[in-house]
Amino acid sequence: MKVTVVGAGNVGATVADVLAYREVANEIVLLDIKEGVAEGKALDIFQKSPITMYDSRTIGVTNDYARTADSDVVVITSGLPRKPGMSRDDLIGVNSGIVKSVTEQVVKYSPNAVIVIVSNPLDVMTYQAHLTSQFPRNRVIGMAGVLDTARYKAFLAEALNVSVKDIQAVLLGGHGDTMVPLPRYTTVGGIPVTELIDMDKLNAIVERTKVGGGELVKLMGTSAWYAPGAAAAQMVEAIVKDQKRVFPVCVKLEGEYGIDDCYLGVPVVLGKNGVEKVLELKLSAEEMELLQTSRKHVLEVMAVLQK
Ligand code: NAI
Ligand code: 2OP
Repeated sequence: MKVTVVGAGNVGATVADVLAYREVANEIVLLDIKEGVAEGKALDIFQKSPITMYDSRTIGVTNDYARTADSDVVVITSGLPRKPGMSRDDLIGVNSGIVKSVTEQVVKYSPNAVIVIVSNPLDVMTYQAHLTSQFPRNRVIGMAGVLDTARYKAFLAEALNVSVKDIQAVLLGGHGDTMVPLPRYTTVGGIPVTELIDMDKLNAIVERTKVGGGELVKLMGTSAWYAPGAAAAQMVEAIVKDQKRVFPVCVKLEGEYGIDDCYLGVPVVLGKNGVEKVLELKLSAEEMELLQTSRKHVLEVMAVLQK
Protein backbone atom coordinates (compact mmCIF):
# COMPACT_ATOMS: atom_id res chain seq x y z
CA MET A 1 0.00 0.00 0.00
CA LYS A 2 1.22 3.52 -0.77
CA VAL A 3 0.13 6.65 1.05
CA THR A 4 1.09 10.23 0.19
CA VAL A 5 0.92 13.09 2.68
CA VAL A 6 1.01 16.54 1.10
CA GLY A 7 2.37 19.24 3.41
CA ALA A 8 5.25 18.31 5.69
CA GLY A 9 4.43 20.85 8.36
CA ASN A 10 3.26 20.11 11.88
CA VAL A 11 0.21 18.04 10.95
CA GLY A 12 1.57 16.39 7.78
CA ALA A 13 4.79 15.22 9.44
CA THR A 14 2.78 13.83 12.36
CA VAL A 15 0.50 11.91 9.98
CA ALA A 16 3.54 10.38 8.25
CA ASP A 17 5.14 9.53 11.60
CA VAL A 18 2.03 7.76 12.91
CA LEU A 19 1.52 5.90 9.62
CA ALA A 20 5.13 4.76 9.73
CA TYR A 21 5.32 3.54 13.33
CA ARG A 22 1.96 1.81 13.07
CA GLU A 23 3.13 0.20 9.79
CA VAL A 24 -0.09 1.26 8.09
CA ALA A 25 1.59 1.34 4.67
CA ASN A 26 4.96 0.09 3.51
CA GLU A 27 5.57 3.18 1.35
CA ILE A 28 4.82 6.66 2.62
CA VAL A 29 5.64 9.73 0.53
CA LEU A 30 5.81 13.09 2.29
CA LEU A 31 5.69 16.07 -0.09
CA ASP A 32 6.14 19.77 0.56
CA ILE A 33 6.70 22.84 -1.57
CA LYS A 34 9.58 24.04 0.64
CA GLU A 35 12.91 22.63 -0.53
CA GLY A 36 14.36 20.03 1.85
CA VAL A 37 11.67 20.07 4.54
CA ALA A 38 9.90 16.85 3.53
CA GLU A 39 13.22 15.14 2.75
CA GLY A 40 14.57 16.03 6.20
CA LYS A 41 11.46 14.98 8.14
CA ALA A 42 11.17 11.72 6.16
CA LEU A 43 14.81 10.93 6.89
CA ASP A 44 14.23 11.65 10.58
CA ILE A 45 11.20 9.28 10.59
CA PHE A 46 13.30 6.59 8.84
CA GLN A 47 16.09 6.98 11.40
CA LYS A 48 13.56 6.47 14.20
CA SER A 49 12.58 3.04 12.81
CA PRO A 50 15.44 1.02 14.39
CA ILE A 51 14.48 2.50 17.78
CA THR A 52 10.71 2.06 17.58
CA MET A 53 11.05 -0.99 15.31
CA TYR A 54 9.04 -0.60 12.13
CA ASP A 55 9.63 -1.46 8.50
CA SER A 56 7.54 1.23 6.77
CA ARG A 57 9.73 3.50 4.66
CA THR A 58 8.98 7.24 4.45
CA ILE A 59 10.39 9.18 1.51
CA GLY A 60 10.44 12.99 1.35
CA VAL A 61 10.15 14.99 -1.90
CA THR A 62 9.95 18.64 -2.88
CA ASN A 63 6.93 19.11 -5.13
CA ASP A 64 7.80 15.98 -7.16
CA TYR A 65 4.39 14.45 -7.74
CA ALA A 66 5.77 11.73 -10.02
CA ARG A 67 7.10 10.10 -6.83
CA THR A 68 3.55 10.02 -5.41
CA ALA A 69 2.18 8.10 -8.42
CA ASP A 70 -0.44 5.43 -7.78
CA SER A 71 -0.97 6.23 -4.13
CA ASP A 72 -3.93 4.44 -2.57
CA VAL A 73 -4.65 7.30 -0.18
CA VAL A 74 -3.53 10.95 -0.32
CA VAL A 75 -3.81 13.14 2.77
CA ILE A 76 -3.76 16.89 2.03
CA THR A 77 -2.51 19.00 4.93
CA SER A 78 -0.88 21.79 2.90
CA GLY A 79 -2.01 25.28 3.79
CA LEU A 80 -1.76 27.96 6.41
CA PRO A 81 -2.75 27.20 10.00
CA ARG A 82 -4.54 29.87 12.02
CA LYS A 83 -2.96 32.36 14.34
CA PRO A 84 -4.55 33.73 17.52
CA GLY A 85 -7.61 35.85 16.70
CA MET A 86 -8.23 34.10 13.36
CA SER A 87 -11.10 31.79 12.59
CA ARG A 88 -10.60 28.75 10.36
CA ASP A 89 -12.68 30.56 7.73
CA ASP A 90 -10.12 33.40 7.51
CA LEU A 91 -7.78 30.90 5.79
CA ILE A 92 -10.00 30.35 2.78
CA GLY A 93 -8.32 32.76 0.33
CA VAL A 94 -4.86 31.23 0.51
CA ASN A 95 -5.78 27.64 1.29
CA SER A 96 -8.34 27.18 -1.49
CA GLY A 97 -5.64 27.97 -4.07
CA ILE A 98 -3.24 25.55 -2.42
CA VAL A 99 -5.81 22.74 -2.14
CA LYS A 100 -6.88 23.28 -5.76
CA SER A 101 -3.35 23.10 -7.19
CA VAL A 102 -2.41 20.12 -5.02
CA THR A 103 -5.61 18.25 -5.95
CA GLU A 104 -4.88 18.76 -9.67
CA GLN A 105 -1.57 16.94 -9.21
CA VAL A 106 -3.16 14.20 -7.11
CA VAL A 107 -5.76 13.52 -9.82
CA LYS A 108 -3.03 13.41 -12.47
CA TYR A 109 -0.76 10.97 -10.65
CA SER A 110 -3.12 8.97 -8.41
CA PRO A 111 -6.49 8.89 -10.21
CA ASN A 112 -7.81 6.05 -8.03
CA ALA A 113 -6.80 7.43 -4.63
CA VAL A 114 -9.04 8.25 -1.73
CA ILE A 115 -8.33 11.90 -0.81
CA VAL A 116 -8.46 12.87 2.87
CA ILE A 117 -8.48 16.63 3.41
CA VAL A 118 -7.12 18.19 6.58
CA SER A 119 -6.51 21.81 5.46
CA ASN A 120 -8.86 24.41 6.87
CA PRO A 121 -11.56 25.60 6.62
CA LEU A 122 -12.09 21.85 6.54
CA ASP A 123 -15.57 21.36 5.15
CA VAL A 124 -15.08 23.90 2.39
CA MET A 125 -11.59 22.66 1.49
CA THR A 126 -13.13 19.19 1.09
CA TYR A 127 -15.67 20.78 -1.25
CA GLN A 128 -12.80 22.46 -3.13
CA ALA A 129 -11.06 19.10 -3.60
CA HIS A 130 -14.35 17.63 -4.84
CA LEU A 131 -14.80 20.47 -7.37
CA THR A 132 -11.26 20.05 -8.65
CA SER A 133 -11.01 16.25 -8.64
CA GLN A 134 -14.57 15.40 -9.70
CA PHE A 135 -13.99 12.16 -7.75
CA PRO A 136 -17.12 10.44 -6.44
CA ARG A 137 -18.11 11.48 -2.92
CA ASN A 138 -16.81 8.29 -1.31
CA ARG A 139 -13.25 9.24 -2.36
CA VAL A 140 -13.13 12.91 -1.27
CA ILE A 141 -13.52 13.19 2.47
CA GLY A 142 -12.42 15.44 5.32
CA MET A 143 -10.91 14.84 8.76
CA ALA A 144 -12.45 16.77 11.63
CA GLY A 145 -14.96 14.58 13.45
CA VAL A 146 -12.36 12.07 14.63
CA LEU A 147 -10.38 14.95 16.18
CA ASP A 148 -13.37 16.78 17.63
CA THR A 149 -14.72 13.54 19.09
CA ALA A 150 -11.30 12.75 20.57
CA ARG A 151 -11.26 16.13 22.33
CA TYR A 152 -14.75 15.51 23.69
CA LYS A 153 -13.78 12.02 24.89
CA ALA A 154 -10.57 13.28 26.51
CA PHE A 155 -12.42 15.99 28.46
CA LEU A 156 -15.09 13.50 29.54
CA ALA A 157 -12.55 10.89 30.65
CA GLU A 158 -10.81 13.54 32.74
CA ALA A 159 -14.04 14.75 34.35
CA LEU A 160 -15.25 11.21 35.14
CA ASN A 161 -11.81 9.88 36.07
CA VAL A 162 -12.22 6.90 33.73
CA SER A 163 -10.19 5.50 30.85
CA VAL A 164 -10.52 7.24 27.50
CA LYS A 165 -10.79 3.71 26.06
CA ASP A 166 -14.26 3.25 27.54
CA ILE A 167 -15.86 6.35 26.06
CA GLN A 168 -17.89 6.08 22.86
CA ALA A 169 -19.21 9.23 21.25
CA VAL A 170 -20.22 10.85 17.99
CA LEU A 171 -20.39 14.45 16.77
CA LEU A 172 -22.12 15.91 13.73
CA GLY A 173 -21.77 19.06 11.66
CA GLY A 174 -19.01 21.29 10.38
CA HIS A 175 -15.52 21.65 11.86
CA GLY A 176 -16.06 24.81 13.79
CA ASP A 177 -17.87 26.35 16.67
CA THR A 178 -21.19 25.12 15.20
CA MET A 179 -20.26 21.44 15.52
CA VAL A 180 -23.00 19.33 17.11
CA PRO A 181 -21.90 17.00 19.95
CA LEU A 182 -24.57 14.41 20.77
CA PRO A 183 -24.59 13.57 24.50
CA ARG A 184 -27.58 11.30 23.78
CA TYR A 185 -25.22 9.01 21.85
CA THR A 186 -22.36 9.15 24.38
CA THR A 187 -21.69 6.11 26.54
CA VAL A 188 -19.09 5.16 29.14
CA GLY A 189 -18.51 1.40 29.16
CA GLY A 190 -22.00 1.05 27.69
CA ILE A 191 -23.63 3.33 30.32
CA PRO A 192 -25.35 6.50 29.00
CA VAL A 193 -23.11 9.41 30.01
CA THR A 194 -26.13 11.33 31.28
CA GLU A 195 -26.36 8.81 34.17
CA LEU A 196 -22.80 9.56 35.26
CA ILE A 197 -22.40 13.33 35.05
CA ASP A 198 -24.67 16.26 35.77
CA MET A 199 -25.95 18.29 32.84
CA ASP A 200 -24.08 21.49 33.76
CA LYS A 201 -20.75 19.69 33.69
CA LEU A 202 -21.63 17.90 30.45
CA ASN A 203 -22.71 21.15 28.80
CA ALA A 204 -19.45 22.80 29.86
CA ILE A 205 -17.52 19.92 28.23
CA VAL A 206 -19.58 20.26 25.06
CA GLU A 207 -18.83 24.00 24.93
CA ARG A 208 -15.11 23.44 25.55
CA THR A 209 -15.05 20.85 22.75
CA LYS A 210 -16.60 23.31 20.30
CA VAL A 211 -13.74 25.75 20.84
CA GLY A 212 -11.13 23.04 21.45
CA GLY A 213 -9.04 24.06 18.43
CA GLY A 214 -9.09 27.71 19.48
CA GLU A 215 -7.98 26.83 23.02
CA LEU A 216 -4.78 25.34 21.58
CA VAL A 217 -4.21 28.22 19.15
CA LYS A 218 -4.34 30.62 22.11
CA LEU A 219 -1.80 28.55 24.03
CA MET A 220 0.65 27.88 21.20
CA GLY A 221 0.20 30.71 18.68
CA THR A 222 -0.58 28.10 16.01
CA SER A 223 -2.94 25.18 15.71
CA ALA A 224 -2.59 21.65 17.06
CA TRP A 225 -0.86 18.71 15.37
CA TYR A 226 -0.47 15.59 17.58
CA ALA A 227 -4.19 14.76 17.84
CA PRO A 228 -5.01 16.05 14.31
CA GLY A 229 -2.16 14.01 12.81
CA ALA A 230 -3.17 10.85 14.70
CA ALA A 231 -6.81 11.40 13.70
CA ALA A 232 -6.00 11.63 9.98
CA ALA A 233 -3.71 8.59 10.28
CA GLN A 234 -6.52 6.62 11.95
CA MET A 235 -8.76 7.36 8.96
CA VAL A 236 -6.01 6.26 6.56
CA GLU A 237 -5.56 3.03 8.52
CA ALA A 238 -9.28 2.26 8.29
CA ILE A 239 -9.14 2.72 4.51
CA VAL A 240 -5.85 0.90 3.85
CA LYS A 241 -6.80 -2.07 6.07
CA ASP A 242 -10.45 -2.04 4.97
CA GLN A 243 -11.46 -1.97 8.63
CA LYS A 244 -15.06 -0.72 8.16
CA ARG A 245 -14.57 1.60 11.14
CA VAL A 246 -17.43 3.90 12.13
CA PHE A 247 -16.14 7.47 12.36
CA PRO A 248 -17.59 10.94 12.01
CA VAL A 249 -16.21 12.12 8.65
CA CYS A 250 -16.82 15.17 6.48
CA VAL A 251 -18.63 13.94 3.37
CA LYS A 252 -20.94 15.35 0.71
CA LEU A 253 -24.51 14.79 1.83
CA GLU A 254 -26.85 13.60 -0.89
CA GLY A 255 -30.20 13.66 0.84
CA GLU A 256 -29.15 12.21 4.20
CA TYR A 257 -30.45 14.24 7.16
CA GLY A 258 -32.62 16.05 4.55
CA ILE A 259 -29.50 17.85 3.24
CA ASP A 260 -28.13 17.56 -0.28
CA ASP A 261 -26.12 20.65 -0.89
CA CYS A 262 -23.34 20.58 1.64
CA TYR A 263 -20.21 18.93 3.00
CA LEU A 264 -20.73 18.12 6.69
CA GLY A 265 -19.47 15.74 9.34
CA VAL A 266 -21.67 12.67 9.87
CA PRO A 267 -20.99 9.11 10.99
CA VAL A 268 -19.88 6.84 8.16
CA VAL A 269 -18.41 3.40 7.60
CA LEU A 270 -14.82 3.79 6.41
CA GLY A 271 -13.20 1.02 4.38
CA LYS A 272 -11.16 0.38 1.25
CA ASN A 273 -13.49 2.46 -0.93
CA GLY A 274 -13.34 5.43 1.42
CA VAL A 275 -16.84 6.18 2.66
CA GLU A 276 -18.74 2.91 2.19
CA LYS A 277 -21.94 4.03 3.89
CA VAL A 278 -23.34 7.19 5.45
CA LEU A 279 -25.13 6.39 8.69
CA GLU A 280 -28.28 8.39 9.30
CA LEU A 281 -29.25 8.95 12.92
CA LYS A 282 -32.77 9.82 14.02
CA LEU A 283 -32.20 13.30 15.39
CA SER A 284 -34.43 15.18 17.80
CA ALA A 285 -35.88 18.50 16.63
CA GLU A 286 -33.30 20.35 18.71
CA GLU A 287 -30.37 18.33 17.30
CA MET A 288 -31.67 18.82 13.76
CA GLU A 289 -31.87 22.57 14.34
CA LEU A 290 -28.23 22.60 15.48
CA LEU A 291 -27.23 20.60 12.40
CA GLN A 292 -29.07 23.07 10.17
CA THR A 293 -27.25 25.98 11.85
CA SER A 294 -23.96 24.22 11.15
CA ARG A 295 -25.01 23.59 7.53
CA LYS A 296 -25.91 27.28 7.07
CA HIS A 297 -22.50 28.31 8.35
CA VAL A 298 -20.67 25.91 6.00
CA LEU A 299 -22.85 27.08 3.07
CA GLU A 300 -21.88 30.71 3.78
CA VAL A 301 -18.19 29.79 3.53
CA MET A 302 -18.85 27.68 0.41
CA ALA A 303 -20.45 30.78 -1.14
CA VAL A 304 -17.24 32.76 -0.43
CA LEU A 305 -15.29 30.05 -2.26
CA GLN A 306 -17.65 30.17 -5.25
CA LYS A 307 -17.11 33.95 -5.54
P1 NAI B 1 2.16 24.10 8.87
O1 NAI B 1 2.36 25.52 8.47
O2 NAI B 1 2.99 23.52 9.95
O3 NAI B 1 2.36 23.17 7.57
C1 NAI B 1 1.79 23.45 6.33
C2 NAI B 1 2.76 22.96 5.28
O4 NAI B 1 2.14 23.08 4.00
C3 NAI B 1 4.06 23.78 5.23
O5 NAI B 1 5.19 22.94 5.42
C4 NAI B 1 4.03 24.40 3.84
O6 NAI B 1 5.32 24.55 3.24
C5 NAI B 1 3.18 23.39 3.08
N1 NAI B 1 2.62 23.91 1.84
C6 NAI B 1 2.08 25.13 1.59
N2 NAI B 1 1.70 25.21 0.31
C7 NAI B 1 1.97 24.02 -0.27
C8 NAI B 1 1.77 23.47 -1.57
N3 NAI B 1 1.23 24.18 -2.56
N4 NAI B 1 2.19 22.22 -1.81
C9 NAI B 1 2.76 21.47 -0.82
N5 NAI B 1 2.96 21.93 0.43
C10 NAI B 1 2.57 23.19 0.69
O7 NAI B 1 0.60 23.93 9.20
P2 NAI B 1 -0.08 22.72 10.02
O8 NAI B 1 -0.13 23.05 11.43
O9 NAI B 1 0.54 21.46 9.56
O10 NAI B 1 -1.59 22.81 9.47
C11 NAI B 1 -1.87 22.49 8.13
C12 NAI B 1 -3.35 22.75 7.80
O11 NAI B 1 -4.15 21.84 8.53
C13 NAI B 1 -3.84 24.14 8.20
O12 NAI B 1 -4.72 24.63 7.20
C14 NAI B 1 -4.58 23.90 9.50
O13 NAI B 1 -5.57 24.86 9.76
C15 NAI B 1 -5.20 22.55 9.21
N6 NAI B 1 -5.62 21.78 10.37
C16 NAI B 1 -6.81 21.12 10.28
C17 NAI B 1 -7.25 20.33 11.30
C18 NAI B 1 -8.53 19.59 11.17
O14 NAI B 1 -9.06 19.10 12.16
N7 NAI B 1 -9.06 19.41 9.97
C19 NAI B 1 -6.47 20.20 12.55
C20 NAI B 1 -5.21 20.89 12.54
C21 NAI B 1 -4.80 21.68 11.47
C1 2OP C 1 -8.08 22.29 15.15
O1 2OP C 1 -9.26 22.08 15.44
C2 2OP C 1 -7.06 24.08 13.83
O2 2OP C 1 -8.81 22.85 12.93
C3 2OP C 1 -7.73 22.80 13.77
O3 2OP C 1 -7.15 22.11 15.96
